[in-house]
Amino acid sequence: MSEQGTSSAREPGAAAGAEGQRRRMALITGGSGGIGLELARLFAADGLSLILVGRDRRRLEAAGAQLRAQYQVPVRCMSRDLSESRAAFELWADLTASGADVDVLVNNAGVGLYGPVDTQDPDALERMVQLNVAALTTLTRLALPAMRRRGWGRILNVASVVAFQPAAPRMAAYYASKAYVLSFSRGLSAELKGSGVSITVLAPGPTETQFDDTSDAAADVLYKRLPKMSPAAVARAGYRGLIRGAKVVVPGFLAKVMAFAGELPPRSIALEVNRLLWKPPASRRGSGS
Ligand SMILES: NC(=O)c1ccc[n+]([C@@H]2O[C@H](COP(=O)([O-])OP(=O)(O)OC[C@H]3O[C@@H](n4cnc5c(N)ncnc54)[C@H](OP(=O)(O)O)[C@@H]3O)[C@@H](O)[C@H]2O)c1
Repeated sequence: MSEQGTSSAREPGAAAGAEGQRRRMALITGGSGGIGLELARLFAADGLSLILVGRDRRRLEAAGAQLRAQYQVPVRCMSRDLSESRAAFELWADLTASGADVDVLVNNAGVGLYGPVDTQDPDALERMVQLNVAALTTLTRLALPAMRRRGWGRILNVASVVAFQPAAPRMAAYYASKAYVLSFSRGLSAELKGSGVSITVLAPGPTETQFDDTSDAAADVLYKRLPKMSPAAVARAGYRGLIRGAKVVVPGFLAKVMAFAGELPPRSIALEVNRLLWKPPASRRGSGS
């Protein structure tokens, strides 16, 4: 499944005529691991310079060193916690002060948070919303004026296949945050028509990364038994979609089925399936919800 856009499909690394030979630059949040690191490899292979953002400085620097050595491109590592309020503004202020021109923005960093809302750590809940929703929105807002001025820019927002689902008990806020990413990106994509700036949403299904470990998901929910794609395959699909100007990319057969089924009426069926997929083993055996 992919919704096609109308923007021209130019290689992200290609130098724009009016800009001479300036090497294009991609900012990738969560570029130190998982899907983000695989996306970073693809941009580096295409000759872009990179700015990688993540919290763990050592992991970030290790990823940066590997990419520099393998692809001979400049890589800057910026250790930031984007779940802190104002962190996106501060990151952008530092980039502007150093004269960085971001041609490609990849809003990839995101976390999940498992559990009934009334028992979730309220601080963790707020941090998730700040990262998945607010930081993505703010970075997009701050990146757009220069992209519009240059008449060229690419934004890749990493949502999830769950964005197509009605909702899920025990993952309520996470599903809602990804539905926001999809809706925000679609609306903005229509605003940007004809500007030379395009927005692509990457909506992966289950992917083999550290995501489950950091989402507090109970060890044995059914959702975690679904087959997983490799982060490299997910990143390749997203990268190709970005190049051809696709509006939405859902990589892999399972994710396409999940996205399609999630939108089928009556949506109460998908809600019930999600309830079962995220139910902990003890309550699966019993009758509780
Ligand atoms: N894996 C899946 O099954 C799956 C499915 C659908 C969608 N997704 C989405 O794909 C995106 C990437 O996830 P992934 O699976 O690649 O997860 P991952 O392996 O856990 O990688 C997450 C990346 O984001 C960074 N990050 C996390 N919290 C951050 C914060 N507060 N500030 C800055 N950077 C932060 C991490 O580095 P640090 O920890 O060092 O900060 C890491 O580089 C997320 O938006 C996720 O929702 C994942």
